[in-house]
Parts: sequence; structure tokens; C-alpha cells
Amino acid sequence: MPRTPVTVTVTGAAGQIGYALLFRIASGQLLGPDVPVRLRLLEITPALAAAEGTAMELDDCAFPLLAGIDITDDANVAFDGANVALLVGARPRTKGMERGDLLEANGGIFKPQGRAINDHAADDVRVLVVGNPANTNALIAQAAAPDVPAERFTAMTRLDHNRALSQLAKKTGAPVSEIRRLTIWGNHSATQYPDIFHAEVAGKNAAEAIGDESWLADEFIPTVAKRGAAIIEARGASSAASAANAAVDHVYTWVNGTPEGDWTSMAVPSDGSYGVPEGLISSFPVTCADGSYRIVPDLAVNDFSRVRIDASVRELSEEREAVRALGLI
Ligand code: NAD
Ligand code: LMR
Repeated sequence: MPRTPVTVTVTGAAGQIGYALLFRIASGQLLGPDVPVRLRLLEITPALAAAEGTAMELDDCAFPLLAGIDITDDANVAFDGANVALLVGARPRTKGMERGDLLEANGGIFKPQGRAINDHAADDVRVLVVGNPANTNALIAQAAAPDVPAERFTAMTRLDHNRALSQLAKKTGAPVSEIRRLTIWGNHSATQYPDIFHAEVAGKNAAEAIGDESWLADEFIPTVAKRGAAIIEARGASSAASAANAAVDHVYTWVNGTPEGDWTSMAVPSDGSYGVPEGLISSFPVTCADGSYRIVPDLAVNDFSRVRIDASVRELSEEREAVRALGLI
């Protein structure tokens, strides 16, 4: 018997990540090859025509798993019955805009969307925020949705995780499939900390195998943390296909689980672990099973890691204070 379609809402559907993401969802890569999906696309009114164009192309792919597409500029309609909500649309930083202005502009998007999720989404809704500043936008949406369990609001650091995997594979010559237990800590920003002290490459501790702290401090960490900016510089636009790929990975792993003996990185509400103030949506090592995630407990954190985790978490605390002062949470 065919399964009931899962409703997946995508905001910013006419944007460049949306264009790379929707076809992957409709083909079954987000949830699995036997799970039909119904897409709900949310856009601002001037971009509805472009979203219609993308929907025409989705139709033209004749995806067997695609059970329908609705397009709207009304968040209450877009999140009605949503099982998975991918919040991609956001206000980009423009010339002369301070960080506070950016947080305020995004508050105007993520607060009403959080409220619409609260009022209309399915009981099992899972939310991934991609739009930047992703961690704090997730916090704003979560605060506007008091009836949804707080842990259902997550933000994306899987792109940073995948970038770190690739850089480590290049350095060691090992394939990505041989690397496990890498972690991104903190904010999806240049302060993030990609940590290889618990990572394994072909069964050996990665930091010990490399044995070169200056490579870590001067090459690996800045390359991963500033990769988004490097792509903007090279492409003249921010990462899109790799961001969409990471969003697919994030949700697929959350729903279907992490492989035995491995973990992934997700920005999730802190339970106070690792000195991260409770409630901040910060990236941690997490395992997933049965549709839930769990922060990996009791990892030893050395001095090298401690200062870097603290710096990124400090930035998140400052962002939380800023949106609190603006009355957004
Ligand atoms: P884009 O500008 O191409 O598309 C954004 C879309 O969002 C536009 O079509 C716009 O009309 C729409 N939008 C704006 N306000 C909206 C609202 N209130 N409701 C619905 N839609 C709305 O941008 P993009 O390249 O697709 O990137 C989207 C966001 O993802 C940006 O904030 C970008 O910085 C962020 N991003 C995050 C990561 C990550 O790793 N977390 C990686 C790459 C990009
Ligand atoms: C990325 O990591 O590629 C993006 O978050 C960069 C950006 O500012 O959109």
C-alpha cells in the first residue's frame, strides 16, 4: 500500500539553494527512496512567479515520489501539516548593514514563520534553519513556537562538517568514507570550530596521525571556517548546491540515523553540555536514532579546543542578547 506523503515545506523556494534542493527532495533523497513527499513552497509575493517556474520543472521530471506541489506567500498555508520544515529564505546582509540590522530584518521573517509552525505544523514537525544567521534565526523561530518541543528546532552546520571531511581527506589521502567522528562546534560563522581531536582516519586518531598543530591552527580551521566567504569570492554568489546537499544530509541523518560508531554535527538547543549555556542553538557532535538526536556525552575537551569552542559560543550568546534586546525572543 502506498504510504501517506510526508509534507515538506521549503521557504525561499525560488532562491538558488531552493533550486538545488527541491529536485533532490522530490527524487526521494531527503527521506528515502520509498517515501512519497508533498512539497509546500513559501516565497515572498514578487518571487511567486519564479517559484511557479520551478514547480513546472519539478512536474516535468515526473518524479514517482512527488505527490503534489503547493505554492504560497502565506506562512500559515505553507506550514499547514508540515512534517519537515526547511527554512532557507532569509534576508541577506547588504551594504552598510550592521549585524544588529541583519538580526532585526531576519526577526521579521523567522518570528512569524515560527508562529505559523506553532499553529499549523504536524505534531512531529522537524525544523532545519539554513538561512543566515542560521543558529540565531532558529532561536527566534523556536521562541515563537512554544507548543513545539524545543529540540525540534535545529540549524545547519552539516555543510561545515562536510567541508571539514573533505579537507581532512585531502590532507591524509584517505577517502572521506574512512573518516569518522569529526565535529563542528558553535556557530555557523567564521568563529566555528572544526575539531579533529576525536576524529579517526582509517581507524587511527586523526590529530595524532597528522601530528602538526600548526596545520590545524593555520590551515585546516581557517579553510573550513572561511570556506563560505571563499566561495562567495570565487562564484560571486554564496554556496548553493553544497548547501542544498548538506540540508538533505542533515534531515536524512536525523530521520534515518547515524552509522554505527560515527556521529555528525548539528546545531541543536544546548542542554548545558560542554559549558554551552542552556538553550543556545549551538553545533555539537550528535548521534541520531529512531528519528531523534542525542548530543554525544563526555568527550574530553583539551585546551586547544576549549578556547575555540568558548569563542564561538560567546558569539552565539551575544547574538542571543541582541535579539533579546530587540524583543525577538
Ligand atoms: P537567495 O537570495 O538565492 O534566495 C533566498 C530566497 O528567499 C529568495 O528567493 C527570497 O525571495 C526568499 N525569501 C526572502 N524572504 C522570504 C520570506 N519571508 N519567506 C519566504 N521566502 C523568502 O539565497 P540562497 O543562496 O538560496 O541562500 C539562502 C540563505 O541560506 C541565505 O541566508 C544564505 O546565507 C544561507 N546559507 C546558509 C548556509 C549554511 O550552511 N547554514 C549555507 C549557504 C547559504
Ligand atoms: C556558507 O557557509 O557557504 C554560507 O553560510 C555563506 C553565506 O554567508 O551565505
